[in-house]
Amino acid sequence: MSSLQGKVAVVTGAGAGLGRSIAIRLAARGARVVVADIADEAAAETARLIAEEAGEARAFHVDVTSSADSVALVAHAVLMYGRLDVAVNNAGVAPPPHPIAEVPADVWRRTLSVDLDGVFNGIQAQIPAMVEHGGGVIVNIASILGTVGFPGLAPYVAAKHAVIGLTKQIAVDYAKQGIRSIAIGPAFIKTGLEAVFDDATRKALDEAHPIGRMGTPGEVGEVVAAVAEDGWSFVNGAYLPIDGGYLSR
Ligand SMILES: NC(=O)c1ccc[n+]([C@@H]2O[C@H](COP(=O)([O-])OP(=O)(O)OC[C@H]3O[C@@H](n4cnc5c(N)ncnc54)[C@H](O)[C@@H]3O)[C@@H](O)[C@H]2O)c1
Repeated sequence: MSSLQGKVAVVTGAGAGLGRSIAIRLAARGARVVVADIADEAAAETARLIAEEAGEARAFHVDVTSSADSVALVAHAVLMYGRLDVAVNNAGVAPPPHPIAEVPADVWRRTLSVDLDGVFNGIQAQIPAMVEHGGGVIVNIASILGTVGFPGLAPYVAAKHAVIGLTKQIAVDYAKQGIRSIAIGPAFIKTGLEAVFDDATRKALDEAHPIGRMGTPGEVGEVVAAVAEDGWSFVNGAYLPIDGGYLSR
Protein backbone atom coordinates (compact mmCIF):
# COMPACT_ATOMS: atom_id res chain seq x y z
CA MET A 1 0.00 0.00 0.00
CA SER A 2 1.17 3.54 -0.74
CA SER A 3 2.44 5.58 2.22
CA LEU A 4 0.31 8.42 0.78
CA GLN A 5 -2.92 6.59 1.67
CA GLY A 6 -5.05 9.02 3.72
CA LYS A 7 -2.41 11.77 3.60
CA VAL A 8 -3.46 15.35 2.83
CA ALA A 9 -1.96 17.17 -0.15
CA VAL A 10 -2.30 20.58 -1.77
CA VAL A 11 -1.28 21.21 -5.38
CA THR A 12 -1.17 24.74 -6.81
CA GLY A 13 -1.86 25.33 -10.48
CA ALA A 14 -3.71 22.01 -10.45
CA GLY A 15 -6.36 23.10 -12.94
CA ALA A 16 -4.20 22.22 -15.95
CA GLY A 17 -1.05 20.64 -17.29
CA LEU A 18 1.48 19.26 -14.85
CA GLY A 19 -0.50 20.31 -11.77
CA ARG A 20 -3.59 18.39 -12.89
CA SER A 21 -1.52 15.29 -13.57
CA ILE A 22 0.27 15.60 -10.21
CA ALA A 23 -3.06 15.95 -8.34
CA ILE A 24 -4.50 12.91 -10.15
CA ARG A 25 -1.42 10.77 -9.41
CA LEU A 26 -1.37 11.78 -5.72
CA ALA A 27 -5.07 10.93 -5.41
CA ALA A 28 -4.49 7.59 -7.19
CA ARG A 29 -2.06 6.71 -4.38
CA GLY A 30 -4.75 7.48 -1.81
CA ALA A 31 -3.97 11.08 -0.87
CA ARG A 32 -6.81 13.52 -0.20
CA VAL A 33 -6.04 16.46 -2.47
CA VAL A 34 -6.89 20.15 -2.40
CA VAL A 35 -6.77 21.19 -6.05
CA ALA A 36 -5.82 24.87 -6.03
CA ASP A 37 -5.83 27.23 -8.99
CA ILE A 38 -6.62 30.80 -9.95
CA ALA A 39 -8.91 29.31 -12.65
CA ASP A 40 -11.91 28.02 -10.71
CA GLU A 41 -13.60 25.96 -13.43
CA ALA A 42 -10.33 24.25 -14.33
CA ALA A 43 -9.71 23.34 -10.68
CA ALA A 44 -13.27 22.01 -10.36
CA GLU A 45 -12.72 19.87 -13.46
CA THR A 46 -9.55 18.33 -11.95
CA ALA A 47 -11.45 17.57 -8.73
CA ARG A 48 -14.21 16.00 -10.83
CA LEU A 49 -11.71 13.82 -12.73
CA ILE A 50 -10.30 12.61 -9.41
CA ALA A 51 -13.76 11.86 -7.99
CA GLU A 52 -14.57 9.92 -11.19
CA GLU A 53 -11.74 7.53 -10.27
CA ALA A 54 -13.07 7.25 -6.70
CA GLY A 55 -10.41 9.60 -5.34
CA GLU A 56 -10.95 12.39 -2.80
CA ALA A 57 -10.41 16.00 -3.88
CA ARG A 58 -11.73 19.52 -3.35
CA ALA A 59 -11.18 22.53 -5.54
CA PHE A 60 -10.05 25.79 -3.96
CA HIS A 61 -9.41 29.25 -5.40
CA VAL A 62 -5.87 30.56 -4.93
CA ASP A 63 -3.76 33.27 -6.47
CA VAL A 64 -0.27 32.22 -5.42
CA THR A 65 1.02 35.79 -5.78
CA SER A 66 -1.04 36.57 -2.66
CA SER A 67 0.39 35.46 0.66
CA ALA A 68 -3.11 35.74 2.17
CA ASP A 69 -4.46 33.33 -0.46
CA SER A 70 -1.59 30.93 0.22
CA VAL A 71 -2.38 30.96 3.95
CA ALA A 72 -6.11 30.49 3.22
CA LEU A 73 -5.31 27.45 1.05
CA VAL A 74 -3.43 25.72 3.85
CA ALA A 75 -6.16 26.67 6.34
CA HIS A 76 -8.72 25.12 4.00
CA ALA A 77 -6.76 21.85 3.76
CA VAL A 78 -6.50 21.69 7.55
CA LEU A 79 -10.19 22.58 7.98
CA MET A 80 -11.34 19.95 5.46
CA TYR A 81 -8.93 17.15 6.27
CA GLY A 82 -7.29 17.98 9.62
CA ARG A 83 -3.65 18.37 8.56
CA LEU A 84 -1.21 19.00 5.70
CA ASP A 85 1.31 16.33 4.68
CA VAL A 86 2.30 17.11 1.10
CA ALA A 87 2.47 20.44 -0.74
CA VAL A 88 3.30 20.81 -4.41
CA ASN A 89 4.13 24.38 -5.44
CA ASN A 90 3.49 24.03 -9.16
CA ALA A 91 1.62 27.14 -10.40
CA GLY A 92 3.72 29.01 -12.92
CA VAL A 93 3.67 31.14 -16.03
CA ALA A 94 6.04 31.41 -19.02
CA PRO A 95 6.91 34.92 -20.22
CA PRO A 96 6.92 35.96 -23.89
CA PRO A 97 10.53 35.66 -25.14
CA HIS A 98 12.83 38.71 -25.06
CA PRO A 99 16.63 38.98 -24.97
CA ILE A 100 17.61 39.92 -21.42
CA ALA A 101 18.40 43.56 -22.27
CA GLU A 102 14.91 44.00 -23.71
CA VAL A 103 12.76 42.31 -21.06
CA PRO A 104 9.94 44.77 -20.22
CA ALA A 105 9.77 45.61 -16.52
CA ASP A 106 6.18 44.38 -16.24
CA VAL A 107 7.10 40.99 -17.79
CA TRP A 108 9.97 40.62 -15.31
CA ARG A 109 7.74 41.51 -12.33
CA ARG A 110 4.81 39.34 -13.41
CA THR A 111 6.97 36.26 -14.02
CA LEU A 112 8.88 36.61 -10.76
CA SER A 113 5.66 37.30 -8.89
CA VAL A 114 4.05 33.99 -9.93
CA ASP A 115 7.08 31.73 -10.45
CA LEU A 116 9.17 32.83 -7.45
CA ASP A 117 7.03 34.84 -4.98
CA GLY A 118 4.24 32.29 -5.50
CA VAL A 119 6.51 29.45 -4.38
CA PHE A 120 7.86 31.49 -1.45
CA ASN A 121 4.30 32.37 -0.34
CA GLY A 122 3.38 28.70 -0.50
CA ILE A 123 6.41 27.56 1.51
CA GLN A 124 5.80 30.17 4.22
CA ALA A 125 2.17 29.10 4.60
CA GLN A 126 2.82 25.34 4.40
CA ILE A 127 5.71 24.90 6.83
CA PRO A 128 3.92 25.91 10.08
CA ALA A 129 1.02 23.52 9.35
CA MET A 130 3.45 20.69 8.62
CA VAL A 131 5.59 21.35 11.67
CA GLU A 132 2.47 21.23 13.85
CA HIS A 133 1.86 17.61 12.82
CA GLY A 134 5.46 16.38 12.85
CA GLY A 135 6.55 17.14 9.29
CA GLY A 136 5.73 16.80 5.64
CA VAL A 137 7.03 16.98 2.09
CA ILE A 138 7.28 20.11 -0.05
CA VAL A 139 7.80 19.55 -3.78
CA ASN A 140 8.62 22.67 -5.79
CA ILE A 141 8.22 22.51 -9.56
CA ALA A 142 11.29 24.21 -11.00
CA SER A 143 12.50 23.32 -14.53
CA ILE A 144 15.60 22.25 -16.40
CA LEU A 145 15.83 26.05 -16.79
CA GLY A 146 16.57 26.16 -13.06
CA THR A 147 20.10 24.99 -13.92
CA VAL A 148 20.80 26.32 -17.42
CA GLY A 149 19.80 29.36 -19.47
CA PHE A 150 17.52 29.44 -22.53
CA PRO A 151 17.31 32.11 -25.25
CA GLY A 152 14.81 34.84 -24.40
CA LEU A 153 13.58 33.50 -21.06
CA ALA A 154 15.59 35.51 -18.51
CA PRO A 155 12.77 36.08 -15.96
CA TYR A 156 11.75 32.42 -16.06
CA VAL A 157 15.35 31.16 -15.83
CA ALA A 158 16.04 33.49 -12.89
CA ALA A 159 12.86 32.43 -11.05
CA LYS A 160 13.49 28.71 -11.56
CA HIS A 161 17.13 28.96 -10.37
CA ALA A 162 15.80 30.69 -7.24
CA VAL A 163 13.16 27.98 -6.69
CA ILE A 164 15.95 25.39 -6.52
CA GLY A 165 17.72 27.62 -3.98
CA LEU A 166 14.57 27.92 -1.85
CA THR A 167 14.22 24.13 -1.95
CA LYS A 168 17.71 23.69 -0.51
CA GLN A 169 16.96 26.32 2.13
CA ILE A 170 13.89 24.41 3.36
CA ALA A 171 16.10 21.36 3.94
CA VAL A 172 18.68 23.41 5.82
CA ASP A 173 16.15 25.22 8.00
CA TYR A 174 13.52 22.51 8.65
CA ALA A 175 14.92 18.98 8.22
CA LYS A 176 15.08 18.57 12.00
CA GLN A 177 11.35 19.37 12.19
CA GLY A 178 10.56 16.53 9.80
CA ILE A 179 10.14 18.55 6.62
CA ARG A 180 11.60 17.25 3.40
CA SER A 181 11.88 19.27 0.18
CA ILE A 182 12.55 18.35 -3.43
CA ALA A 183 12.79 20.52 -6.55
CA ILE A 184 11.63 18.89 -9.76
CA GLY A 185 13.14 19.89 -13.10
CA PRO A 186 10.89 18.99 -16.01
CA ALA A 187 12.29 19.54 -19.49
CA PHE A 188 9.80 20.65 -22.13
CA ILE A 189 6.42 19.03 -21.48
CA LYS A 190 3.44 19.30 -23.79
CA THR A 191 0.89 21.18 -21.69
CA GLY A 192 0.19 24.50 -23.31
CA LEU A 193 3.08 26.53 -21.89
CA GLU A 194 5.11 25.46 -24.96
CA ALA A 195 2.52 27.29 -27.11
CA VAL A 196 4.65 30.45 -26.81
CA PHE A 197 7.04 28.85 -29.36
CA ASP A 198 6.57 28.63 -33.16
CA ASP A 199 6.50 25.30 -35.09
CA ALA A 200 10.19 25.34 -35.99
CA THR A 201 11.16 25.99 -32.37
CA ARG A 202 8.86 23.20 -31.15
CA LYS A 203 10.53 20.77 -33.62
CA ALA A 204 13.96 21.90 -32.41
CA LEU A 205 12.76 21.36 -28.84
CA ASP A 206 11.77 17.75 -29.60
CA GLU A 207 15.25 17.17 -30.98
CA ALA A 208 16.94 18.87 -28.01
CA HIS A 209 15.86 15.92 -25.85
CA PRO A 210 18.05 12.83 -26.44
CA ILE A 211 14.83 10.79 -26.21
CA GLY A 212 13.63 12.68 -29.34
CA ARG A 213 10.45 14.24 -27.96
CA MET A 214 9.02 16.46 -25.26
CA GLY A 215 7.62 14.82 -22.14
CA THR A 216 4.02 14.23 -21.11
CA PRO A 217 2.29 15.54 -17.97
CA GLY A 218 1.86 11.95 -16.77
CA GLU A 219 5.62 11.39 -16.85
CA VAL A 220 6.00 14.29 -14.41
CA GLY A 221 2.95 13.53 -12.25
CA GLU A 222 4.09 9.99 -11.64
CA VAL A 223 7.52 11.07 -10.38
CA VAL A 224 6.16 13.85 -8.16
CA ALA A 225 3.76 11.43 -6.48
CA ALA A 226 6.57 8.91 -6.03
CA VAL A 227 9.00 11.33 -4.36
CA ALA A 228 6.34 12.24 -1.79
CA GLU A 229 6.33 8.64 -0.55
CA ASP A 230 7.92 7.87 2.84
CA GLY A 231 10.52 5.62 1.18
CA TRP A 232 12.24 8.76 -0.14
CA SER A 233 12.94 9.88 3.46
CA PHE A 234 16.70 10.52 3.00
CA VAL A 235 16.26 12.62 -0.15
CA ASN A 236 16.15 16.21 1.05
CA GLY A 237 16.92 19.54 -0.64
CA ALA A 238 17.57 17.66 -3.88
CA TYR A 239 17.01 18.74 -7.46
CA LEU A 240 15.62 15.99 -9.69
CA PRO A 241 15.47 16.56 -13.47
CA ILE A 242 12.72 14.79 -15.45
CA ASP A 243 14.12 15.57 -18.84
CA GLY A 244 14.48 12.70 -21.31
CA GLY A 245 18.24 13.26 -21.07
CA TYR A 246 18.11 17.02 -21.92
CA LEU A 247 20.71 18.02 -19.32
CA SER A 248 22.97 15.05 -20.13
CA ARG A 249 24.21 16.44 -23.44
N1 LIG B 1 5.23 22.62 -19.56
C1 LIG B 1 6.54 22.61 -19.50
O1 LIG B 1 7.22 22.35 -20.51
C2 LIG B 1 7.25 22.86 -18.20
C3 LIG B 1 8.60 22.56 -18.12
C4 LIG B 1 9.28 22.79 -16.93
C5 LIG B 1 8.61 23.31 -15.87
N2 LIG B 1 7.29 23.62 -15.97
C6 LIG B 1 6.65 24.20 -14.80
O2 LIG B 1 5.55 23.38 -14.42
C7 LIG B 1 4.56 24.19 -13.78
C8 LIG B 1 3.21 23.95 -14.45
O3 LIG B 1 3.34 24.30 -15.82
P1 LIG B 1 2.29 23.79 -16.91
O4 LIG B 1 3.07 23.55 -18.13
O5 LIG B 1 1.44 22.72 -16.35
O6 LIG B 1 1.44 25.13 -17.11
P2 LIG B 1 -0.11 25.33 -17.51
O7 LIG B 1 -0.20 26.70 -18.06
O8 LIG B 1 -0.61 24.20 -18.31
O9 LIG B 1 -0.82 25.30 -16.08
C9 LIG B 1 -0.49 26.25 -15.11
C10 LIG B 1 -1.65 26.37 -14.13
O10 LIG B 1 -1.27 27.34 -13.15
C11 LIG B 1 -2.39 28.19 -12.94
N3 LIG B 1 -1.91 29.51 -12.47
C12 LIG B 1 -1.29 30.47 -13.19
N4 LIG B 1 -1.06 31.53 -12.41
C13 LIG B 1 -1.55 31.24 -11.18
C14 LIG B 1 -1.63 31.95 -9.96
N5 LIG B 1 -1.16 33.20 -9.86
N6 LIG B 1 -2.18 31.35 -8.89
C15 LIG B 1 -2.68 30.08 -9.00
N7 LIG B 1 -2.65 29.38 -10.13
C16 LIG B 1 -2.10 29.96 -11.21
C17 LIG B 1 -3.09 28.28 -14.28
O11 LIG B 1 -4.44 28.70 -14.13
C18 LIG B 1 -2.95 26.85 -14.79
O12 LIG B 1 -4.03 26.05 -14.39
C19 LIG B 1 5.05 25.63 -13.90
O13 LIG B 1 5.70 26.01 -12.70
C20 LIG B 1 6.05 25.56 -15.04
O14 LIG B 1 7.02 26.58 -14.96
C21 LIG B 1 6.59 23.41 -17.12
